[in-house]
Order: sequence, then structure tokens, then C-alpha cells
Amino acid sequence: MALTESAIGNSGKVARQYAPYVQADWGFANHWYPACFSDEVAVRGVVGVTIGGHDIAITREDDGTVRAISDRCLHRGVKLSAKPMCFANKTVTCWYHGYTYNAESGNLDTIVGSPDDKLINTVSVRTYPAEEVAGLIFVFVGDDDYGTPPPLDTDLPVKVTDNDDTPHFRDAKIVTRGLRRKLYGNWRLAAENGLDPSHLLVHWDNQIVVALDRAMPLGMKAMKDDATELLDVENGPKGVMNRYDLPENYQPVFENPIVDIKARGTTMFKPFRVSLWLPGILMVEDWPIPGVTQYEFYVPIDDHHHMYFEVIADHASTEDEKKEFEFKYKNFYEPLGLLNFNNNDVFAREATEEHYERFDGWNNEVLADADFSVVAWRKQAAKHGRGFFQSPYFDED
Ligand code: FES
Ligand SMILES: [Fe+2]
Repeated sequence: MALTESAIGNSGKVARQYAPYVQADWGFANHWYPACFSDEVAVRGVVGVTIGGHDIAITREDDGTVRAISDRCLHRGVKLSAKPMCFANKTVTCWYHGYTYNAESGNLDTIVGSPDDKLINTVSVRTYPAEEVAGLIFVFVGDDDYGTPPPLDTDLPVKVTDNDDTPHFRDAKIVTRGLRRKLYGNWRLAAENGLDPSHLLVHWDNQIVVALDRAMPLGMKAMKDDATELLDVENGPKGVMNRYDLPENYQPVFENPIVDIKARGTTMFKPFRVSLWLPGILMVEDWPIPGVTQYEFYVPIDDHHHMYFEVIADHASTEDEKKEFEFKYKNFYEPLGLLNFNNNDVFAREATEEHYERFDGWNNEVLADADFSVVAWRKQAAKHGRGFFQSPYFDED
């Protein structure tokens, strides 16, 4: 069956339908992004991250409050996070010549070796709104004059199920663990890969799939034009969803006789749901096992790198349940899921980047029916992105 937009191949014309998405090479500005995990930032610690070209230092006050300020010292521009120094509560001191900033206001409170300096209290570094939820620290990054940021929940996936057993960020009994790593490749290639119903071939020879004797489909075939559902919560998050659990939407493809290939394994996989949300968050329910949710955040660093957050979420209330989750995380979810299995995806994304970076890939791709959901995502993102990050580099156009 050919879907209505099967002419989406050949590309320049189609790319214009979501032009703002093509423009978002540095990412969408004015959104909440995860910066790091909560346990990375100790009281009076400083962790440096880069999001859409913004260098940001995350620190923690004595009472536990997280703060985010520019990670560039006003004086000579070094990164404050290069050598963390927080001598007093709620301050960050630059390790080089001692400019000391208030972590809440960004004000230059003092200069360690020049306490009577006239510059003191006349300048400040930029601050960023920061919030902590479910073991992650989020920062609102974008235009300096954007005004009051929308609530963090506008950039977090909502519960798309009535099943209360499905873990979600705002659940009281949520527990999370995960990894973040800097990867080569534009953030959009990473985001699209997770949603892409035809990318499953990259996992065909994955060790876990083989070890568990799982019948991983070769692809998921869309059964109708609107198999990819648009998610548009009023005053809330926006995204798209592929419900592989609905046979009227998607059916797994297990073999292709033309090339004599069959999915290996005899254990049927449980169909799951995949949704992709602005500004670049994947939610995979019932993955890697039923009852667990895997979140992935693709945070733009610059136009050719992204931070890949892989987060496993489950429910645990008692200490025993939390210990069990920790055990499973260390011995299953992280080594086999987040590393072994997801490394197939990392390989694919990094391999795609060259074409998009050097050969104008956005205008030189030949898409097929199976890319319908990727195109749906691009349009949704183009419509709801709140702005664009720009290159901060002096010598770059
Ligand atoms: S560069 Fe930071 S105080 Fe000089
Ligand atoms: Fe994958």
C-alpha cells in the first residue's frame, strides 16, 4: 500500500514544507533541556555543559537548590567549570583571577584578590532558569529577552496511557537511572532515528536480541496515512507517536523473501509505543521490558554534536524495590540496553551525519513510505519550535 505522500522522495520540495526544521541545525531555542543528572552536581559543585551553543555552569546551593549561570567568566572568558571553586554558599568563583558570581543573580559579588575593585556589583553573568525533576536537572535555554519561560511540563512527555503502571516523570514513585554522552552528529538525526519505523534493521544482529531469542521485526509497516498520531496538548507538549501496539496502525514485517531474510528468534516481542516530543525527547513505553519506560533526550551541543541522554524509568516505593531497580539497572538495563543495544542506534546516527553535513543531506535524501512518521515529526517540530539557536562563534557565518 502506498501512502498518500509517497511522493515524499526527492526532497528539496518536501524539505520546504518544514523549512523551520531544516533551519534548526543548532536546535530549537527557548525550550527546557536536561543539562545533567542530579547526582552529578554536589553541593558547591560546578558542572559545565553546552546546549545549543550556550556554555552553562550548573551548581548547587547548600540547601540543595540548583542554579545555572553562564559558564564563561566575564573577565577573560575561561570556563568556570574548568576548575570548580565555590568558597561561599550560592557563589561561584572563577579559578583564574577570582571574579566571584552570585549563583542566583549572576552579579559580580567580589573579586577574591581585589575586594575594593570598582567593577564589583556593576556587572553580571547571564543566569538560566533551572529545575530538578526525577533525577535530572533541566535548564531553560534560549533568547536572553524571552521573558518568563513556560512551565517545564510543556517540554516533558505527558502520560499517553491510562495505565498507571507506566512510569512517567511526574509520578511520585518514579525512579530513574541513566547515562549521558557526547556524540558526533546533528541532534535531528538522533531524534529521527528513534522514531523511525524502518530503522529496526540496525538491531537485527544485536547480541541481546540473539541472546533472548527475540523476534525483532525487520521494520514496522504503516497501515494507513495517519498511522503516526500527532500529539498536541493544549498549553502543553507537542510531538508525534507511533503505536506499534495497534495492528490497524502498524504491522511488523518479519521477512523479505526477495533477499531471503527473516527476523531471527522465536520469542515474540511485545508491541510497544514510541513517541517523540519537542524539543527532542523520545519516550519508549514498555521498553526494554514491559512496565519500564525508556526516555532519550537529544540535546544539541552545536550543529554537529549532541548530548545523548538515555534514561530508564520505573516505579519503586520501598527501599527493597529501589535496591532491586538499582541491581537491574547495573546488570541489565545499562550494559545490555543503554550500551549494547543503543550503540546500534549511535552507530547509525554517526554514520548519517557525514551526508547531512557535507552533502546538503536535507535537500538530498530520497524518502520512502516508511519515512512518513519522520516527516510528520519534522512538520510538528517546525510548527511548534519556539525559536532557533544561533552559532555563538565569532568566525562562523
Ligand atoms: S578569567 Fe575569570 S577571573 Fe580572570
Ligand atoms: Fe533503535
